[in-house]
Amino acid sequence: MPPQQSMRTVAIEAALQAGRAIRGLHGQVSHVRFKGTVDIVTEADEQSERIILQALNRHFPDHGVLSEESGSVAARNLGSDYLWIIDPLDGTTNFAHGYPMFAVSIGLEVKGQRELGVVYAPVLDELFVAERGQGAYLNGERLRVSTTDSLIYGLLASGFGYEPTMAESNVAHWRRFLPLTQGLRRDGSAALNLCFVAAGRLDGYWEMGIRHWDSAAGALMVLEAGGQVTDFAGGPYAGDAPNCLASNGILHPAMLEALAAG
Ligand code: IPD
Ligand code: CA
Repeated sequence: MPPQQSMRTVAIEAALQAGRAIRGLHGQVSHVRFKGTVDIVTEADEQSERIILQALNRHFPDHGVLSEESGSVAARNLGSDYLWIIDPLDGTTNFAHGYPMFAVSIGLEVKGQRELGVVYAPVLDELFVAERGQGAYLNGERLRVSTTDSLIYGLLASGFGYEPTMAESNVAHWRRFLPLTQGLRRDGSAALNLCFVAAGRLDGYWEMGIRHWDSAAGALMVLEAGGQVTDFAGGPYAGDAPNCLASNGILHPAMLEALAAG
């Protein structure tokens, strides 16, 4: 039996180890495999996932695991009260192009409630950690969402998934937000976009069609930094719901209104 370690410690160590492996492969992608027309998997996704799954299997063999992997999903023990939700490399397209916005994301839900989120961005060397009721931290420093109180002073981000019709619909939202805000960003990592909302670097983020592993850790980060996360109707955001709106809370009503406009 491995020594007893807290779930937090195991998740942090796995994220750091996986992130360092990804960083070692950065700039040397020799082979990508296509899951869809533009959706790819690299050796780094697979290596990172192996490292994380090994750590979880070793310490918590009975826990449930849901992980984006190799064009399918590694799912086991899904009846357990504990569910680890993993994106071994969020921002794979960025990684493959040497664009440094990518991260490892590990979330833990207990009986369906978000308990722990760990996101590690290896090039930035930024480790985000949130625990329910304990706050959100970046490299040990407590995070707070921004206090921006008007959309026109806000910097927002969105993402465009791989599903073409979904991406098309999001273009309408993008167009609507563009004149209403100080700026919009699309930089290809949902997990980091959520962490950046938690850190006050972004004032809000929305995306359609994201997957449970994209948001499991990042959504808790926003909530623990004092922000708000809902679906596009303002209702609770379930981890596996497709539409996610995160903000500093103050801008939430204005963002909901813009999203409802069509
Ligand atoms: C993607 C990124 C991207 C988001 C997509 C995700 P991946 O994850 O988070 O920003 O817009 O919806 O699928 O494929 O790089 O792990
Ligand atoms: Ca991924």
